[in-house]
Amino acid sequence: MIGSNLNDHLVRQASEFIPGGVNTSLRRVEPRLVFTRAAGAIITDADGKDYIDYHAAFGPIILGHNFEAVNRRAIEAMETIDLIGTGTTELEIELARKICRHIPSAEKVLFCNAGSEATYQAIRLARAVTGRKKIIKFQGCYHGWHDSVAMNVISPPDKVGQMDPLSAGSLPEVLSHTIVCKFNSLEALEKAVAENRGHIAAIIIEPIPHNIGCVLPKPGFLEGLREISRLNGIVLIFDEVITGFRHGLGGYQKICGVTPDLTTLGKAMANGYPIAALCGKRELMERFNTNPGGDVFFAGTYNGHPAGCAAALATIEAMESQPVHDHVFRLGDKMRSGLKGIVDRLGIRATVAGFGSVFLTYFMEGPIENYSDLLRNDQQLMVMYRRRLVDRGIFKLPLNLKRNHISFSHTDQHVERTLQVAEDVLKEICKLPRRSASARN
Ligand SMILES: Cc1ncc(COP(=O)(O)O)c(C=O)c1O
Repeated sequence: MIGSNLNDHLVRQASEFIPGGVNTSLRRVEPRLVFTRAAGAIITDADGKDYIDYHAAFGPIILGHNFEAVNRRAIEAMETIDLIGTGTTELEIELARKICRHIPSAEKVLFCNAGSEATYQAIRLARAVTGRKKIIKFQGCYHGWHDSVAMNVISPPDKVGQMDPLSAGSLPEVLSHTIVCKFNSLEALEKAVAENRGHIAAIIIEPIPHNIGCVLPKPGFLEGLREISRLNGIVLIFDEVITGFRHGLGGYQKICGVTPDLTTLGKAMANGYPIAALCGKRELMERFNTNPGGDVFFAGTYNGHPAGCAAALATIEAMESQPVHDHVFRLGDKMRSGLKGIVDRLGIRATVAGFGSVFLTYFMEGPIENYSDLLRNDQQLMVMYRRRLVDRGIFKLPLNLKRNHISFSHTDQHVERTLQVAEDVLKEICKLPRRSASARN
């Protein structure tokens, strides 16, 4: 198809054969786009329009799109071995060794294909070792699509404090075994533990809840969580599917100095290739039936796939040998201070939040300690701002509360261009009539 309508044509085709035209619910956003190329910090749609990409596929892209060393390693692996599906490959051994070296809680590791599989197995293992059924999660955290955790992420105000499943068809019996607590409140956690003493198998948490942007743990919160779980024989699971490798080779646990019992990893671990991991204490991990005598079922046709393992090795090696984290943290700071300068100059009620390579602008004033605080965010304004950025070639997912990511392939020039466009868009928005609702005066 010639001309500028190829994108729209493909969008229509997609919906003909794929329900809604996308393969993950949150991929269906306006404007509807079909992407045909990705390189470095740039993604290109079917009409040939380039975007500076901050979506990063929900976080995996830490080095940049189509990072040569990662692709080369994956291709080499596939040309050498491909999938055997019995025994072990050298790639799995090398990758497991690397993860145990870097991640403080990792004494043993198992590989699977996606973060949801890793959190599913972590919870099943915790239930097996404790002989208990209930788990605790936190409002605003996302841990994948399975029934035990697929609830209470970006909940409508009337559902906060209630059960808010993400899906019809979830088993009520499973949902009822998950207790939802308020992030950053040790008081709420202690109360939940006391009311369910002897019944809680696991506490699962994103140490920084990035599924609602970036809410930082208050000093002492994660330490308190560790202590409460230790005192009550509860397995503490850090879901580092986003924070692991993106914020540092040792994950956020190395940065905050709190070591969980189990850790889930994925996303930035392999720069976009499908692999995830569950790691943790030896005595827990050895309960899996990959180990002789283990009684917790662990299986998957594609587990430890050579392409994913090779990509993860190349990604981690790039992080070990090049200043990846220095670069993304520096650009993250530059982006955040630039955005803060803009909203301050324009008198917009906003909070620029983030950590390291992650940043976003909430349209509200702080403090922001948990999801309830974020109910004050002007979501209409947030989505309008992002849609206008997308129109001008800056791709931030045009949805409420979504974080943005910087990669090793972003440059100072990308950040400066982004700030310039952000300022233009915010100036335009300030002139709109509804702006008065969000302005300081
Ligand atoms: C913190 C966290 N855990 C788990 C998952 C599930 O990972 P996946 O989508 O790879 O199944 C996600 C996905 O966004 C996540 O953000």
